[in-house]
Amino acid sequence: SKAPVRVAVTGAAGQIGYALLFRIASGEMLGKDQPVILQLLDLPQAQKACQGVIMELDDCAFPLLAGVFATDNPDVAFKDADICMLVGARPRGPGMERAELLSANGAIFTVQGKSIAENAKEDVKVLVVGNPANTNAYIARKSAMKVGRTNPANYHGMLRLDHNRALSMAAAKIGRPVSSLRKMAVWGNHSPTMYTDYRNATSNGDSVKALINDAAWNNDVFLPTVAKRGAAIIEARGLSSAASAANAAICHVRDWVLGTEDWVTMGVPSDGSYGVPEGIIFGFPCECKNGSYKIIQGLEIDAYSQEKIAKTLKELQEEADAVKSML
Ligand code: NAI
Repeated sequence: SKAPVRVAVTGAAGQIGYALLFRIASGEMLGKDQPVILQLLDLPQAQKACQGVIMELDDCAFPLLAGVFATDNPDVAFKDADICMLVGARPRGPGMERAELLSANGAIFTVQGKSIAENAKEDVKVLVVGNPANTNAYIARKSAMKVGRTNPANYHGMLRLDHNRALSMAAAKIGRPVSSLRKMAVWGNHSPTMYTDYRNATSNGDSVKALINDAAWNNDVFLPTVAKRGAAIIEARGLSSAASAANAAICHVRDWVLGTEDWVTMGVPSDGSYGVPEGIIFGFPCECKNGSYKIIQGLEIDAYSQEKIAKTLKELQEEADAVKSML
């Protein structure tokens, strides 16, 4: 049988952690024949809650769960990790300025990036879920690069929830199942400036753009609805999206590790593609094979798309500027 894969999950005592850990342990992320060891990180005051989650994991008697522990020490949590899912982050408090939010998270992700680079496997795959996800991933990556050792291409931010929201909404609009869709894309930041793009999407081979054929609906309904979906969930549930966020994290890592035939949106460090400066963590349509990913190249960017992409890029560059002094 296969050797266990070590998966570190931060913010393990939180909402997303609760929706995520049981699915990883059941084999939904890495396969039904792949044992896993879960390495949970959370703050000191959350250790008791982590122990409760571990009790429940034990009570599931998952055949694939080869081990689980919790700690408040990043070096222990990331030790020999093959995959790190960075969910824990500092939420925006009442009256908190954007700059304060960025610097509070900067303090977390500089430490965690360095710790991953020093402790995890050299080919570790890192997915940042905690917001602001792109910039937190940017910070973790830069901090890890000072240490060296790990692969700088493997520090990602999560845009998969936005991608999945776009799939679901486009499917409903054309009255066809989600499973009929291919080639969706979301560009840029996981924030309301993201650019959700079905120009290249197909449904059973038919152009989704031609099926919808409504530029006003795209601009005035589709884009803002996907972009503001997180706020709509908070409004309805009184809590931010958790099960769908955990599902998106599982989709991202599963496709990265096991590969995919379709395009998937990943927040990856730009290699200069589409004029996005190198190193910015940007949502691009990607393809995954043999444990690595590739940004889809050669897509036509029309004037409308260019304007949207420029806007979300500008926001990411401003965020990068705001954390510069920490790196
Ligand atoms: P939560 O507040 O329920 O849980 C967060 C957990 O992280 C808490 O247990 C907290 O103690 C822990 N934590 C805080 N700082 C930590 C640190 N330095 N090290 C380790 N653990 C730490 O929050 P929830 O709902 O689970 O959300 C987690 C994050 O995911 C938030 O930042 C949220 O904004 C983000 N999110 C991102 C989405 C995306 O699409 N990228 C979608 C939904 C949420």
